[in-house]
This record gives sequence, structure tokens and C-alpha cells, in this order.
Amino acid sequence: MMKIRQVEWKTVTRLCYTKPVLTVNGKYPGPTIAVNEGDNVQVIVTNRVARNTTIHWHGIRQLRTGWADGPAYVTQCPIGGGKTYTYNFTVVGQRGTLWWHAHFAWQRASVYGAFIIYPRMPLPFSPPVHSHFPIIFGEWWNRDVEVVEREMMLYGGGPNSSDAYTINGLPGPLYPCSAKDTFIKTVEAGKTYLLRIINAALNDELFFAVANHNLTVVEIDAVYTKPFTTSAIMITPGQTTNVLLTTDQVPDSTGMFAIAARPYLTSVFPFDNSTTIGFLKYKATTNIKLERNKPPMPPYTLPKNLPTMEDNSFAEHFSNNLRSLASKDYPCNVPQKIDKRVVTTISLNLQDCPVNQTCQGYLGKRFYASMNNHSFVRPSLSILESHYRNLKTEFSSNFPEKPPYVFNYTGVSPVAENMNTQFGTKILEVPFGTRLEIVLQDTNFLNPENHPIHVHGHNFFIVGRGFGNFDVAKDPKGYNLVDPPERNTVAVPKGGWAAIRLHADNPGVWFIHCHLEEHTSWGLAMGFIVKRGKEPSQCLLPPPSDLPPC
Ligand code: C2O
Repeated sequence: MMKIRQVEWKTVTRLCYTKPVLTVNGKYPGPTIAVNEGDNVQVIVTNRVARNTTIHWHGIRQLRTGWADGPAYVTQCPIGGGKTYTYNFTVVGQRGTLWWHAHFAWQRASVYGAFIIYPRMPLPFSPPVHSHFPIIFGEWWNRDVEVVEREMMLYGGGPNSSDAYTINGLPGPLYPCSAKDTFIKTVEAGKTYLLRIINAALNDELFFAVANHNLTVVEIDAVYTKPFTTSAIMITPGQTTNVLLTTDQVPDSTGMFAIAARPYLTSVFPFDNSTTIGFLKYKATTNIKLERNKPPMPPYTLPKNLPTMEDNSFAEHFSNNLRSLASKDYPCNVPQKIDKRVVTTISLNLQDCPVNQTCQGYLGKRFYASMNNHSFVRPSLSILESHYRNLKTEFSSNFPEKPPYVFNYTGVSPVAENMNTQFGTKILEVPFGTRLEIVLQDTNFLNPENHPIHVHGHNFFIVGRGFGNFDVAKDPKGYNLVDPPERNTVAVPKGGWAAIRLHADNPGVWFIHCHLEEHTSWGLAMGFIVKRGKEPSQCLLPPPSDLPPC
């Protein structure tokens, strides 16, 4: 299937602010792409603005087609103004809800949309789904997000936070001037709906609930799960969650039930603490005339089942209840043995301020972030091209496989240790077929936080999670090697660790990073190379002829 997409400016008004917003085909959020499992997809992207851009197909495996993955300077040079690039890939062995977004600077604030893969086989759960629709969370900024990022990097302080959360681009009536910009979905009573929930927010993990209704999680990151019924969900930027909702409640005279999302707070940095609401509207069964697409009159009550912002225990309980379906048709292929274990800290850093500068971070220093005390720097040519052409000038294959020095990661005083990080483009390189375990260890540097770590080109299995420091002698004994959740983005618990396992079976160069955009900007990222295998089918395909030059 072939699609044409244009990246272009569009004037959008939200919260009484009118500004040009970067969009795809003039839509905010962008258009849904829906394909069938097994489809070859070609998306012809033309950049109609005077800024560089790229598009990433978040969660698509991109088997042997790393050229189409999208992260700028990792798998491709950006598409310049006026230029076109065709993303060409085949969707194999995946089904459900993923999404796409810009992967250049902070452009994904507005350049994002759903990517739906219709399965070849019937859905492995009941009751039958009457209809399905996306619920995409985003963040609205009154300012130009690229300027917000640039200022943050220039002065070394934390970024300005967003002005609103949105549901499908609409903030809802709790924000100024926004009652008219409220997401309202009409549903019929007595039916089961599939909600395709996507967190496209830049910097915030979110809780989501629907007043009076439970949600049954059936899929995460386009992988089926054991059905799990819950009063709310926690979703990090980068994650997708499909839930079933049955319209079995008795509405009041308005016919409306509030749906709402608000942040799950694990940071000491200033953040957007507001709440976005929308409504499910039961089709009128009585004679009451309801005005189309208008929210009910205030005051608005939030769903009672929406967790409070500090509800760590809800977030933990929710994450710990996710399990792969692990059925005959959808087996859980978690590696039982591993060839290599890499342990990496994920941390924030407080860097000394360069002489003759003023820095706006804590203690007059500036913020960075790192993995194994190493802040990722994007090179000037894409790493995939350098790798393919055997140019080792742009990166080095020596990402440390252990923290450079051992300390009490989650016990130290947040500012006691030397927190200067190192900069560079160090890559972890593994042979084709490596069964790899990566232990992601949060630290107390500055502030322990829940970090959503995303791996490109591979799904992984979350075999273990815990609080405090990972203990290699003890913790692997408690791993779930039967039905661990399979995903592309893991929430590493605040002040704890997560162990993920994957089959490195996709030759190419893959980005691994925190999906909080402010942390990626600060360098919380690494690259990972899977070398070519022996068979021709285990090699990366040659680069497309229209691959943008740097
Ligand atoms: Cu959704 Cu590298 O990102």
C-alpha cells in the first residue's frame, strides 16, 4: 500500500493561542495509517517546510529495512526542506496498535498519529468488538517547541512545561477557551469497544480512566496480553495499550461519562500538572435532545477511578500485572538463556558550567542525562550509513557493558557524587542472533525517576523489575521466563531497575533511548548494532536510492 504524506505548517488555535504548528497533511494530530498484517507499506514523505524532519514508525520491527526506521542521524540523514523520501517497509508478525511520529528535535509534539495493523487471524479475546477508535494523548505548547528545546540546551536548565494535555489533539473544558475543543465519542449502550490508547506526550507518563467503567487490557505495544481488568491504566510516552470497554452503565440525563488523563509524577522538575478530559456519550435512548459535540455544563467531576498524580503503588501494580498471552497461536519466545548481559545506569547528571557562562540548572550547573555516564551525541552522518560503508570515524563500538564505577545507585545522596558525564557516540555491537539481556538501572542522581526506555528495531521481554540496586547473584532467580510482557518501551521503576531480554535478530543500527524528550535531548540514549548474519536473509538490505544525504 502506498501513502503520500506532506510535512507542512498549519495554523492551529488551542487555549486562545493561535500559532503555526508543524503537521502532516495539515492535520493535528496527524492522519491514522491503517494496514493489514503482512502488507508492504510505502510512505512518500515530502518536507514542505524550511526545517529538517524525519518520520519514525514507532514499534515497527523494520526487519532488514533499518533505512526506513527514521531517527535522525541514527538511521538516516534528515529530509531537508523541499525534499522527498519514501519509507519502504513490510509489516511482518505484528498486529494491533502502534504509532508514528517525527524523530527530529521535538517535532513529535505535533507530528504524530496512530499506526494500526489489522490482524490476519481473528482477535484472540471476547466479547466481540463492536467498533474501535484511537485515544491519543499529546501535549500542547503555546510556544514553538523547537525554541523551548533550544533554550533548554543553551542555558542548561529544565525545559518549560507544556500548557495542556490533549486527547486526540483536544484539551477539553478544564483549560481556558477549550470547551469547544473537547473530545466526545458517541457510543451505543450494551456494546464492547476497543480503545487504541497511545501516549504521544513529550515528557509525561499518564494515568487514564473512564468514569464508572472498567478497562480490560488485551494488547500492549502491538502484542496480545492475558486479559487484565483494571479501573485505570498507566501509560508512558512511547507505549500503546489496547483496552476493551463495555458500555454497560446507566448514564444520567446528559448521557455523558468523563474520560480523563493526568500525569504520573515521579520527577522533582517543574511539570505540567493539569488534566485533560473528554467524554463518552451514550447515544440517547430517551427523548432528551443532546446538542451535538458539546460537553455538558460545568462543574466537571473527574472519574473517581483516576489515580492521583503520586500514586506509585497503582503504577507498580498495573505494570506488574501485564503478561504476554503466551498461547499456542501467540507464543512468548523469551530467551531462556543469554549470551550477553549488559548493565547500564540511566541517570540525570549535573554538569559543571563551562567557564564564562551562566547555567540555569540546579546549583548554577547544567543538566544532562546519560547511560553508563555516557551522554549520546548524534554524529554528522547517520550511524547506519557509516556502519554499512564501514566508516568508523563517526562512532566507536565500545559502549561500556557495565557502569564505569560501582556505587550505591539508588542510595546515594542526589548531589554527593561527581555527576559530570562524558560525551560521545559509543555503540554496543553484538553478533547476529545474540540473546541479549540489558539491565536498566535507575539512579538517585539529582532525582530518581520513572524512565520509559524504548528500543528500536526489536521487541523485548521484561523479565524482571525491582526497587533498589540490581543484584546479579539474586535477582535473575526471580525472573519471569514463562509469560513476561513483550513490548518496545519499558517503564523502569523510579529508584529501581528493569531487566529486558531480546533476540538481536535484526541487522542494522538501532537507537535505544528514554522516550521523555527532555532526557533524549540531554543524552539519555545509546546505539546498538546488530552485525550481519551468515545467510543473505540475515543481512541489511542495501540503502534506497533516495536516502537523504547529510
Ligand atoms: Cu518513538 Cu526513538 O522513538
